[in-house]
Amino acid sequence: MTSEPVRYERHGAVACITIDNPPVNAASAAVRAGLVDAMARFAADADARAAVLTGAGRGFVAGADITEFGKPPQPPTLPEVVAAIDGQTKPVVCVLHGATLGGGLEIALGAHRRIALAGATLGLPEVSLGILPGAGGTQRLPRLAGLEAAIEIITSARPIDAARARALGIVDAVVAGDDPRTEGLAAAQALMTEGPPPPRVRDLPAPAVDEAALAPLRARIAAAHPGQIAQVTAFDAVVEGAALPFADALAHERALFVKLMDSPQRAALVHAFLAERRAARLPELDGVAPRAMDRLGVVGGGTMGAGIAAACLLAGLDVTLIERDTDAARAAADRVDTIVQGSVARGKLRAGRHAEIMATAFRTATDYAALRDADLVIEAVFEDLDAKRAVFSELDRACRPGAVLATNTSYLDIDAIADATARPADVLGLHFFSPAHVMRLLEVVIPARTAPDVAATGLALARRLRKVAVRAGAAEGFIGNRILQATRASADRLVLAGATPAQVDAALQGFGFAMGPYAVLDLAGIEIGQAARRRLGVTAVGDWADALVDRGALGRKAGRGYYLHDGTRPPPPNPEAEALIAEARARAGVTARTIPDDEIVARVMAAMVNEAARVVGAGVARRPLDVDVVLVHGYGFPRWRGGPMHWADAQGLDRIAAQITGWAAEDPAFWRPAPLLADLAARGARFADLDDG
Ligand code: 3HC
Ligand code: NAI
Repeated sequence: MTSEPVRYERHGAVACITIDNPPVNAASAAVRAGLVDAMARFAADADARAAVLTGAGRGFVAGADITEFGKPPQPPTLPEVVAAIDGQTKPVVCVLHGATLGGGLEIALGAHRRIALAGATLGLPEVSLGILPGAGGTQRLPRLAGLEAAIEIITSARPIDAARARALGIVDAVVAGDDPRTEGLAAAQALMTEGPPPPRVRDLPAPAVDEAALAPLRARIAAAHPGQIAQVTAFDAVVEGAALPFADALAHERALFVKLMDSPQRAALVHAFLAERRAARLPELDGVAPRAMDRLGVVGGGTMGAGIAAACLLAGLDVTLIERDTDAARAAADRVDTIVQGSVARGKLRAGRHAEIMATAFRTATDYAALRDADLVIEAVFEDLDAKRAVFSELDRACRPGAVLATNTSYLDIDAIADATARPADVLGLHFFSPAHVMRLLEVVIPARTAPDVAATGLALARRLRKVAVRAGAAEGFIGNRILQATRASADRLVLAGATPAQVDAALQGFGFAMGPYAVLDLAGIEIGQAARRRLGVTAVGDWADALVDRGALGRKAGRGYYLHDGTRPPPPNPEAEALIAEARARAGVTARTIPDDEIVARVMAAMVNEAARVVGAGVARRPLDVDVVLVHGYGFPRWRGGPMHWADAQGLDRIAAQITGWAAEDPAFWRPAPLLADLAARGARFADLDDG
């Protein structure tokens, strides 16, 4: 039995209307209907002279109900709810606490007075879902906050805190109390004694707009979100609407809203939002409590270990870092210190906290005895099986029973690492991405022998670090790196056939990737890909990568790789790499052909989707949505395309399978449709059909 999503009670002369729709009070159809009813009741309630609107639980209202998007709209609409509020002749007070987002803020903008509790966050994040504020937000917010601040809030999707909302005039007061209703009743009392209700936001003058003067801002917004349509459309809704009568502006906003709601980008972004949350929920771990994880150990303080240690410290955990000797420990501590200090500069940490954290929560050691009390240890030493096994056998000796032992290996066999201990049930993989304090993805790699509460601890650590967790099976390269290998192999084939690395990168960036594969190789170091290939016994398509490594052209750190890193922006192609590629073509008897950008994208994406289908087919990723989350959060895949599996569904799997079959004639070993892809394509099914299982 669920309780009423909207309750109406009277306290003396004040109607108290409470929205109660856990967990975040999303404005679902039932909430909207409840609000319209409550407003009608308030209007008819002769004994009620003012109304207070609050949210029960953690926040006011986190916006429209995202799960309703893409389904037939159910009346009343959110604009009708807002109209029911700002059509009142008696004053309505909204008290905002916790998340007040999207349609939640738009509801509040319909009220006569807005009071915020100190911890409230206010925002219009619609563009992050591929839509725009569709219940008056594009017109009411500028009337309170001014044009530029409103454009910034709407097009950035970034929430603001209560103090900033007060400074911008979005709320009338920030109060110290912690009970929304008490604060609302006080504000309502004040309003009732003040005389006529304050003007409605809609009746305030619209800001003056000089469209020509705003053109550069529009261009900047478009450039900051290449390929995406929501941000500039939202900008247009604000600016064009400001010149129209209010009712016409709302109609214009709604028309643009509906257009975006029907767009593939909206579908992709909502898929990404829901997939991120579903990925971290493993039905088999329902009710399994994680183990303790307050005291962390990190072994190895290089690029990854230092980043992991810093991420844990910034999340309030206690970290002991083990290095090989005191010099290495000092260098590791410096790296950690630099990252934590950088968080102050990036506004993520208050100034005094840096020194406090480093002094009280962080220490280095060279002796494993320092990990005696650790709850969870993450190993991040060199990518070498023997080195890792040696570390795990030390951990087995030093750590208390029940401590969780994790490896950050990129590719190695976690079972073989676990075998170096007498407690394989306590071992799992926690695959962080570089830089570990920035990248949001964490692959939680769960080998068959791992105990359920150890797996649950991995997921709980991800939550604690505010990372997006995805379960991966213990197979070579897990989910992401395995798909990456296949993607790179397809890129190398295109280069051998005649494309340049820079052209491949540009085509994929045009598709929306944050970086192209060769730019990524230059960043990470070309030798890393080479080492992985050698270990796997994979022969490169062309041998230019090995030749680059032999010549020391390792990428950015060497000043040259596929590109020249001499400070020129953007980095020009390295002629040395181009010459090596030309030699490889000559040796292979290939005459370079001109390859159009759309063919580059089609082939790389087909290779990615095909390998991803194998990863899902083998159970390494549980569902297609897990692949999407990994690629979006760890590999720069454009979120507004949802992820490779969502993208493939939109293209049609039959089309992709047919492309692969077509290319098989030229390279049958590489272009073989994965059985899962072939099967879904033959049945006219979609990857998304497997997400619900
Ligand atoms: N609709 C439906 N479900 C929602 C939701 C929404 N707007 N917001 C959150 N949820 C669900 C989540 O899917 C999750 O479900 P689960 O438990 O089944 O996985 C649950 O609520 C809790 O969410 P989080 O795990 O994200 O909890 P957090 O505490 O970390 O974050 C939050 C809370 C800040 C509210 C975050 O969920 C969030 O940012 N939500 C989206 C807010 C948003 O984008 N609102 C705009 C909607 S569009 C709109 O309003 C259109 C209007 O202009 C017409
Ligand atoms: P790195 O070379 O920067 O750091 C390794 C550190 O481990 C060095 O500081 C070294 O002194 C220390 N070390 C080596 N043996 C040790 C031992 N026995 N005891 C204590 N410390 C020891 O390497 P990086 O890049 O940080 O990689 C570490 C691990 O993380 C590898 O397994 C790698 O595959 C993985 N990884 C790397 C990513 C990257 O982008 N660099 C991404 C994800 C995982």
